[in-house]
Amino acid sequence: MEEIKVFCPATIANLSCGFDVLGLALENVGDEMIVRKSSTSGIKITKITGQDLPLEAHKNVAGVAGLALLKQSSYIGGFEIEIHKKIKPGSGIGSSAASSTGAVWAMNELLGKPFSKLELVQFAMQGEKLASNVAHADNVAPAIYGGFTLVRSYTPLDIIPIPTPKELFATVIHPQIEIKTSDSRKILKTTISLENGIKQWGNLGGLVAGLFTEDYQLIGRSLEDHIIEPMRSILIPEFDNVKSSSIKNGALGCGISGSGPSIFALSRKKENAQAVAKSMAAIYDKVGVAYDIHISKIATTGVKEIK
Ligand code: HSE
Repeated sequence: MEEIKVFCPATIANLSCGFDVLGLALENVGDEMIVRKSSTSGIKITKITGQDLPLEAHKNVAGVAGLALLKQSSYIGGFEIEIHKKIKPGSGIGSSAASSTGAVWAMNELLGKPFSKLELVQFAMQGEKLASNVAHADNVAPAIYGGFTLVRSYTPLDIIPIPTPKELFATVIHPQIEIKTSDSRKILKTTISLENGIKQWGNLGGLVAGLFTEDYQLIGRSLEDHIIEPMRSILIPEFDNVKSSSIKNGALGCGISGSGPSIFALSRKKENAQAVAKSMAAIYDKVGVAYDIHISKIATTGVKEIK
């Protein structure tokens, strides 16, 4: 195979109680990329549509992730990459992760799959480092594995895939402002109280248990963030109203998607996710904030080939 076209899913990181460790992949929101082998060594980004992003490989997350893979590979040729962005950078649904994972997953396929999923996550994390100054894996892991993933440990990297309850749907609303992950990390305090730690890891364990046992009520009870949300929600227009209205309209839980400004809700059944979407949209319509909104199943596969 000389060329491959891939779908790279958008992802929701943190999921309220799992800052930097939990994430999920969306089924029908994502970018497309075309990657082809080239006799010239290195990475050449030949085309980007949908967004104005750097074409120089070392300044582009897809290029940096791809170069990290090439460094560990015995392949002497190179790759050309086309990126067709549908996910807006700074939206909070893993735009940089989609580009980084798309590049390394596609290159691995073209090379005959020499690298494991875990290794691909490690390469893609270099793209995240370029984008946000921190090599976090909570977006790239679900983008590679699909479904929900837990980063149990960063040193050494240990990714645990978590089963997806069948009736779970995500609603994501993106108020049209851009928040850079690097900026929304700068406002975080680096210490937490023991009291909040106890609440947070109780919820994280509850959420993981709820996902394994398909206990929707437990999932809902556990979608709480006592640490990050109070610091970041002030950056997001109408956050408290959107959250309370989502819960009132049937969401199991609602919180900040990744580093924001997108807000996500999880619901049991599509009808509930649609009612939640309507209630979120009504709030932004009322105050005149422009938005994009998505309703999606949780993707059971991560990056994949498309025709
Ligand atoms: N865990 C990261 C953060 C995700 O919240 O900063 C960024 O999408």
